[in-house]
Formats: sequence, structure tokens, C-alpha cells
Amino acid sequence: MDHPLRIDITTSIPPSIHAEYQTIKDLSYVWLKSMTAADRKKHSDQFCSQKDLISHVLAYRNQLFAGACMLFSRKVFGDRPLLLGGIGGLFVKKEWQHQGIATAIIKKAIDQLIKEGCDLAYLCTDVDHLGSLYEPFGFTPLKQGHTYLGKSGNRYTEYDGMLAPVKSRRLFRQIIDNPIPFDIGLGNW
Ligand SMILES: CC(C)(COP(=O)(O)OP(=O)(O)OC[C@H]1O[C@@H](n2cnc3c(N)ncnc32)[C@H](O)[C@@H]1OP(=O)(O)O)[C@@H](O)C(=O)NCCC(=O)NCCS
Repeated sequence: MDHPLRIDITTSIPPSIHAEYQTIKDLSYVWLKSMTAADRKKHSDQFCSQKDLISHVLAYRNQLFAGACMLFSRKVFGDRPLLLGGIGGLFVKKEWQHQGIATAIIKKAIDQLIKEGCDLAYLCTDVDHLGSLYEPFGFTPLKQGHTYLGKSGNRYTEYDGMLAPVKSRRLFRQIIDNPIPFDIGLGNW
């Protein structure tokens, strides 16, 4: 049976799917709910940059909400300024996983980051388990790590980042080959 997939880019979640979006997202990130108070405080310090949100990618299968991700962007000032795109909060409804829906969402996300003029795309994930989902789009592990400031001013350096070229393969190569952790600015996505 054919299950047509539609993928929309929106600046906000339509009210008609708001409740379902939240329920499926909560089920997909159930570990967020079981965090200790200290971990929750740290997490909100780290993921403090909702102001960078540019759009939502929303997938519908047979007109029914199926999954989503968020897109972010910010100027990053390193050796030279660049526009960094980001993908975060990707999830697909459990019953419909392993049917290529996340792959279709990521493809649309990258197309949108091209339209936004991003030089590079960044995301964080469990690279060992989910790296193969992102690798077909050029995402490569940031083996040297990435670093950012939390809202508190604390600096975090982590090793679960992946980077892909969007408009600039040259900047991508420079950062991937640099032994110093990539500084993504204020807040993780
Ligand atoms: C991760 C997730 C979004 C994948 O959605 P999906 O629609 O099933 O992904 P796709 O069908 O496009 O997967 C394509 C390929 O990516 C890899 N992949 C996808 N999900 C995977 C998983 N959970 N574990 C390992 N590899 C996975 C596989 O190689 C897969 O190919 P296969 O189905 O032939 O094995 C979905 O499992 C989910 O919502 N998980 C909970 C939330 C989450 O962890 N989000 C990711 C945050 S970075």
C-alpha cells in the first residue's frame, strides 16, 4: 500500500497538531523526563539558545503527523565568521520508524539550510548508534570535539557532534581537520 509522505517547513507548530507533536516528542525523548533536578538544570543551561530557532520541519504520512525536527542558525565567529545551521529535536512516531521518514526529514532540513544560506550544518547525537542516519548527508563526527558556552557562562566541551558541508566545503574541511574543538558559540542545539 502506498503511504504518501508530505514534508512542510513552518515557523511555528500548527495548533491542529500541537498536542500530538508534544506527545510524540515527549515519548521520543522520555529520558528528558527522568532527569534529576541537577541534570535538568545543566540541560537547560546547555540548550539555552531557542532564539536561534528558524523553522520546524514537519512530516505527515497519509495526512497524519509523523515526525519532525527543528532548524537553527547563528553566526559563529572563529578564524572567520560563518553561518552555522543546526538540526535538533528529530523524532519519528514509533510505529512508523525504519521506513525512511527521518531520512526524508533530514533531506528537507538540509535543503532548507541551503536556502537559509548556511555554510555548515551541525547536530549532536549518539554518533555510534545514529551516525549512519546522518552520514549519507555528509555529516562527519567532530572527533576533536565541539565547545560552547551555557547561559550561565560555563564552558562545555563535548564529543557527540557531527558537521556537514552546506554551502562551504572549504570551511567544512578546515574545521574537520582542525585539532582544536569547534567553538559553536552560545548554547547547544
Ligand atoms: C532516530 C529516529 C528519528 C529515526 O527515525 P526513522 O524514521 O526510523 O529513520 P530512518 O527510517 O530514516 O532510518 C534510516 C537509517 O538510519 C539508521 N537508523 C535509524 N534509526 C536508528 C536507530 N534507532 N538505531 C540505529 N540506527 C538507526 C539505520 O541505518 C536506518 O536504516 P534501516 O531502517 O534500514 O536500518 C527515530 O528512531 C526516533 O524518533 N528516535 C527517538 C528520538 C531520537 O533518538 N532522535 C534522534 C536524536 S539525534
